[in-house]
Amino acid sequence: MEKLMIRGGEHLSGRVTISGAKNSAVALIPAAILSDEKVVIENLPDIKDVYMLAEILQYLGAEIEHHDGTMVIDPKNMEPKPMLNGRVKELRASYYLMGALLGKFGEAQIGLPGGCNLGSRPIDQHVKGFKTLGAEVTNESGALHLKAKTLVGNRIYLDTISVGATINIMLAAARAKGQTIIENAAKEPEIVDVATLLNSMGVKITGVGTDIIKIQGTDRLKECRHSIIPDRIEAGTYMIIAAATDGDVTVDNVIPKHLESLTAKLRELGAIVEEKEDSIRVLGQSFYKPVDVKTLPYPGFPTDLQQPFSVLMTKAKGTSVITETIFSSRFRHIDELRRMGATAKVEGRTAIFDGPTELQGATVKATDLRAGAALVTAALIADGITEIRDIHHIDRGYENLEEKLVSLGAKIWRVIEEE
Ligand code: EPU
Repeated sequence: MEKLMIRGGEHLSGRVTISGAKNSAVALIPAAILSDEKVVIENLPDIKDVYMLAEILQYLGAEIEHHDGTMVIDPKNMEPKPMLNGRVKELRASYYLMGALLGKFGEAQIGLPGGCNLGSRPIDQHVKGFKTLGAEVTNESGALHLKAKTLVGNRIYLDTISVGATINIMLAAARAKGQTIIENAAKEPEIVDVATLLNSMGVKITGVGTDIIKIQGTDRLKECRHSIIPDRIEAGTYMIIAAATDGDVTVDNVIPKHLESLTAKLRELGAIVEEKEDSIRVLGQSFYKPVDVKTLPYPGFPTDLQQPFSVLMTKAKGTSVITETIFSSRFRHIDELRRMGATAKVEGRTAIFDGPTELQGATVKATDLRAGAALVTAALIADGITEIRDIHHIDRGYENLEEKLVSLGAKIWRVIEEE
């Protein structure tokens, strides 16, 4: 078992370089298999999810070369082997293989990822999309079986704005006959990134970044080279850490526009945020004004930053409220923050913080990736040492977390215990 130990109280300062976006990477790797030729993806983050996807593609027959953040994917010898169990079930984003395999082979059999610590995560909108393109979809013993003689472009209205469904439908539609129109599409930058890759491969996609996306499919996709956008959630996490530790941190290799909602909220709290072309500097304060945050689809405040941001509310003088509109159970970190001394309660989809309160080091558990990021943030400002367990969640999504934090002056180390 591995755990992170953090001695809080340092004001972090310096520069940190942001890696490629996890939520782009997990879609771009499956997207690459739609090609008939080699695809090169650059600026991949060095995180577990990327290695797991590479392993899955190799199982399906792809040839993969992966080093120094670059992956060369040669899908020539791939086959749509059934994947009912194993790796696919561990990795939520393996659902992108449904759209990619359906588009490429007209069939896929994939074990459904179970529920997760964010609450129920249905994929009904993905399935609605596949069916509207002409696929037969059945659920047999916990696995989805998808089959289509021919996929034909069509008009699909998403009943819920969904990042995953928008991307998955784009993947299947990339090789469908004719035009697909996705209405009420999600607008996240990662969707634009996937469309950029597909367009480089020869698909014609317009409207990404708006709520109507048009995809003109093609039956032959060519080789290309693509570099992933910076991870706005990793960047946002370091911006929050800078504000929390009353630090002075510049995050390099970011697209400031992707972080506008966080920048606005940090300024509302009282932190100083300076934006340059591809970097953002955050200067923290000892105490903050209370703020309310409501998570929304992009360009609203991201649910993925809600958990780390909540730590700042323990430094605000007064009552702050978070309303989580995307995932029903994204407050599991709050029990752990309470263990560290936060005054906070959860009522349905709302969390209410009364501050300021001094956090104390404690033994806590990361219940999911961003809960882990919240606990790291809390530990950095807590008095004494915090021990964070279940850090495999954190390793899924943050490249070189300890090295990056140590370079900013944090006292953080990893302990490996024998089981
Ligand atoms: N939803 C449905 N039906 C569907 C799909 C989604 O009801 O068919 C609901 C979900 O239950 C949720 C809402 O729609 O309430 C939005 O879900 P969405 O599909 O947008 O989320 P996702 O694609 O499963 C991605 C990210 C998440 C991020 C969300 C929201 C990836 C691999 N995951 O998930 O990232 O929180 O979008 O922005 O891209 C993370 O990085 O920690 C993470 C969980």
